[in-house]
Amino acid sequence: MSKPALSEAEGTARFASRGPGETRRLGARLGRLLRPGDTVLLSGDLGAGKTVFVQGIARGMGFQGSVSSKSFVLMGEYQGREFKLYHADLYRLEAPEQAEELAMEEYCEDGALVAEWPERAPHVFAPDSLRVRFEVTGERTRGLILEAGGERAR
Ligand SMILES: Nc1ncnc2c1ncn2[C@@H]1O[C@H](COP(=O)(O)OP(=O)(O)OP(=O)(O)O)[C@@H](O)[C@H]1O
Ligand SMILES: [Mg+2]
Repeated sequence: MSKPALSEAEGTARFASRGPGETRRLGARLGRLLRPGDTVLLSGDLGAGKTVFVQGIARGMGFQGSVSSKSFVLMGEYQGREFKLYHADLYRLEAPEQAEELAMEEYCEDGALVAEWPERAPHVFAPDSLRVRFEVTGERTRGLILEAGGERAR
């Protein structure tokens, strides 16, 4: 894992991953920092590595089971050591209003929420979220850009 080119004043950091294992380890590091009420939003093309990153987050939170792609299920939940991880995948959302019906922020307050394809319903997420953008830079390489939306995310 490359050292992050951190610019804390702006609340952004960039990492380079050289394979799925590194992306998972980076997710696990984040998973160990999460607290109930936190929201993490994952953006990037199909196959960019968002779900691989969620597998790491869940592992970092102490979840022992497997994390799969949630494209048909919209919402999964995994019991961590201390609290739950809620995993939303909004790719198949037909209209942003559908996300309002899910009342995600309220439903997930007792745990942490991670969402793939948040741009399908951007208005439902708290401003103080941590955004992670995945860039496909090669067959096995990815760039991860972290952007804090507020104090807690930073
Ligand atoms: N450095 C890397 N980090 C993460 N995944 C990688 C990396 N290099 C290769 N891959 C591969 O890219 C794919 C990422 O799949 P993943 O399901 O995580 O994508 P996704 O962003 O969740 O896509 P979708 O939008 O379809 O849900 C996997 O097959 C994984 O093995
Ligand atoms: Mg996915």
